Formats: sequence, structure tokens, C-alpha cells
Amino acid sequence: MSIIKAEALRYKYPMQDELALDHLSFSIDKGEFIGIIGENGAGKSTLCQALNGLVPHFHKGAYGGTVTVAGKTVHETSVGELSTIVGMVFENPVVQITGAKLTVYEEIAFGLENLGLPRSTIIERVDEAIELLNLAEVRDKSPFALSGGQMQRVAIAGMIAMRPEIMIFDEPTSQLDPQGATEVFEAIETLSRNGVTVLVVSHQMERLARHADRIMLMHGGRLVAFDTPERLFAMDFSGISVRRPVYTEIVRTVQKAGGISAETVPVTLEGAAEWLVKHRG
Ligand SMILES: Nc1ncnc2c1ncn2[C@@H]1O[C@H](COP(=O)(O)OP(=O)(O)OP(=O)(O)O)[C@@H](O)[C@H]1O
Ligand SMILES: [Mg+2]
Repeated sequence: MSIIKAEALRYKYPMQDELALDHLSFSIDKGEFIGIIGENGAGKSTLCQALNGLVPHFHKGAYGGTVTVAGKTVHETSVGELSTIVGMVFENPVVQITGAKLTVYEEIAFGLENLGLPRSTIIERVDEAIELLNLAEVRDKSPFALSGGQMQRVAIAGMIAMRPEIMIFDEPTSQLDPQGATEVFEAIETLSRNGVTVLVVSHQMERLARHADRIMLMHGGRLVAFDTPERLFAMDFSGISVRRPVYTEIVRTVQKAGGISAETVPVTLEGAAEWLVKHRG
């Protein structure tokens, strides 16, 4: 059952000549973990905003085609209503913390309080988010006293407490150290296992390849490929600089030397090791 569907979606920012989104058509099933990759300016962030409604409600410009999220047509649905369906987490954890509250617990409850939900519901949802994102140890601390990875998990918890069916992460680990990035990818994986549909924009190919069911490759506003990591990273993309997982590069180097061509490639350490053992000699 598709939860996101785009049909000939196109969009041009005001005063720009080129389409930022150029006839995108795709569908995503409920519960899928989707990676989004592409060079700078490919249109990744614009696509995210076309799902939560900032395009076309906030960013005006020329818009065509349709996108539906959980059955709602984005250009006919208010940003407020869309925000209960689509949660968005950005690059910088610091700017996502409201700063209005003293503790992690209160920070996570903030959005729910604004919705005016009953106290018992708020407590239940915040406790659940804290549990899911492994934040029990820091619940009484100030959000600003945390590591980048912890802070980003607080931002995710605040979002998840709102119970969106879809969560979009736009380069959520680009400002984090490797430990923080691991924490955040594991948190996203947990949400995914709990049935949330997740879309993650990232340049961390090894992590995306390990977690994603399918990856979208964007270029110049177009969707160049949308497939499983094993199939996508086996493709040749002339003129587009796509970094592949290092494990894939090793296997492809061996394949090229041996004149082997394949429709799928290993994308993880374990997968590459297995392939190399199998093709020894
Ligand atoms: N607010 C804006 N106003 C005008 N043009 C914009 C705006 N935001 C993005 N663009 C343009 O739209 C195109 C797509 O940009 P977008 O930010 O979606 O790319 P991206 O893939 O997210 O890139 P990055 O990897 O740098 O984050 C680019 O040509 C960019 O210059
Ligand atoms: Mg971007």
C-alpha cells in the first residue's frame, strides 16, 4: 500500500530558470526505509519540502503535478495538517531544540502541549518516545548539556511523540561525529522497525546502503534511479558523481579486473567479504 505517491511533480523556485523538481513520479510503501542521494543542488531538500508542504505553500513559484501523503494531496492540504502526518528533522540539532524548556522530558513534551492534548496522553507519548530513542538516562538534563547525537535524538523524540506516519531526515548526521551518527541511524532504524515510513537524505553511503530498502538518486531535479541499494550501486551513472559504499568499490574493482558485470553488488562489509570469498581465485 503506497503512503507517498508523486505524479509528474514539478517545481521551480521564484526567479529561477531551472526546475528544482523535474517531473518526478514514484511511490513509496508504508513502512519503507528510503535513502535519498545526489550531488549538491540535485533537489533533495526541495523534494523533502514538497512532502511536508513547504513547497508550494511557503515557497511560492511554479508548481505542477501532484503529491499525496497518507491520502492527502499536498497542495490542497494546509502545512499545519501536514505537520501531523509528516515529521521533519534537519541537519543542525541545536536549532531544532526550542530552548523554551529546561529538561529533555519537557522539551519532548513541548509540541504535544501546543496541540493541547490531555496530560495523561502527553505523559504516555513522551515516555514512549524516551524509551524508543533510548533517552531515559538524560531525561532530566538540559537538552543543551547533551552530545550532538543525543541532542539530535531529542529532536527526533519530539517529532515522534507527535506520531507522524512519515518522518523525513534531511542530512541528520552531517554535523555529528561518527558515534553520534551511529546513534542517530540506529534510532531511525528503530522507528522504521516500528512501522514509521522514513526518508533519509545523506551522503553517508555505507550507512544508507546498510539500512535502506530502496535509494533514490537525484540529479538536476530529476529522479535518475530508484532501486534497492544492491541494484542501484551496481549501475553506471555517467556524468553524475555518486560515491558508492567503499565495500561496493572494492568488489567492483575486482569485477572490472575480471571482466565480470553484474546487476547487483554487495553494499555492506559482510556482503563484500562473502562475495570475495566466493569468487576467490
Ligand atoms: N529557497 C530557494 N530559492 C531559490 N532557489 C533555491 C532555493 N532552495 C534551493 N534552490 C535551488 O534549487 C535547486 C535544488 O536545491 P536543493 O536545496 O533542493 O538541493 P539539495 O540536493 O538539497 O542540495 P544540498 O546537497 O546542497 O543540500 C538548486 O539549484 C538550488 O540552488
Ligand atoms: Mg539539501
